[in-house]
Amino acid sequence: MTSAAPALSAHELTKVIGRRTIVDRVSFDLFPGEVFGFLGPNGAGKTTTIRMLVGLIRPTEGAVTICGHDIRHQFEEAMRCVGCIVETPDLYRFMTGRENLEHFARMLGVKSSETDRVADRVGMLHRLDQRVGTYSLGMRQRLGIAQALLGRPRVMILDEPANGLDPAGIREMRELIRGLAADGMSIFVSSHLLAEIELMCDRVAIIHHGQILRAGTVRNLIASQRAMEFHVGDVDRAGSVFTQRGVAFEKDHDRLFAAIDEADAAPLIAELVRNDVEVFSARPRLQTLEEMFLDATGGESVD
Ligand SMILES: Nc1ncnc2c1ncn2[C@@H]1O[C@H](COP(=O)(O)OP(=O)(O)OP(=O)(O)O)[C@@H](O)[C@H]1O
Ligand SMILES: [Mg+2]
Repeated sequence: MTSAAPALSAHELTKVIGRRTIVDRVSFDLFPGEVFGFLGPNGAGKTTTIRMLVGLIRPTEGAVTICGHDIRHQFEEAMRCVGCIVETPDLYRFMTGRENLEHFARMLGVKSSETDRVADRVGMLHRLDQRVGTYSLGMRQRLGIAQALLGRPRVMILDEPANGLDPAGIREMRELIRGLAADGMSIFVSSHLLAEIELMCDRVAIIHHGQILRAGTVRNLIASQRAMEFHVGDVDRAGSVFTQRGVAFEKDHDRLFAAIDEADAAPLIAELVRNDVEVFSARPRLQTLEEMFLDATGGESVD
């Protein structure tokens, strides 16, 4: 996946408002067919970053390239490649779903027959002739995505698409987003919902106070926090065995946590046993994305 050229590239994106740096040198690439999660607590700078990506506000510093077009010099070409929803979809509640889509299709110069295609793609064809005011939040979000699909964008940018949805709505949204990625679309999705990001995204960046603290595949981010947990009879003696072998560790009551792979545990266990340390158990401890997030952000609250 990552061998192709990025569909969207942000380079050292920075936004200063007044004296405050709200977004601070944020860089990332979004590759074709991937779902990239932008995870951060309230006020982290997610929406501000998205506003810069789609040209709603001008970056103080840095560059954005979408489908090879720099948004400063080729703004319209770049925007033709993008569908987005920033915060909530722009829909007219007194109009039906179809009227909304037809209105946007006219603005984009897209054939009105496209409305059925996009409505079908988000599973809203059967509700299209009802007023948007009667829709649930999940349905409005899906219609918003349908609207964003009208121009056949290669990149989709969604600001907190799961926000406020119930568990069934969240699952539908996740399946829709994964389906769009399977069609080859590149999707950038912001969220403060950890579980959501963990399930939905291929890669994730953690943003906090405007800075990216960590980034990588969900699997690698979790694996980078790998540790083995040893439950032993004598922690002090076990600790000196670890020290002799140059293995860094942390103690917690009758347990030791060592930053080693499971594959490297066997010789260590043998050494503990040779030194008369009882080993009750040794098991890998994988930090969840949630623990890692709390670690990275210094424990600021997230859902
Ligand atoms: N136009 C503005 N003027 C001054 N401060 C702003 C402006 N826009 C955003 N901010 C501040 O910048 C910070 C980041 O805001 P932003 O909306 O990007 O965060 P967010 O990550 O989207 O948060 P949330 O999860 O609440 O949507 C906040 O502290 C916000 O108050
Ligand atoms: Mg926001």
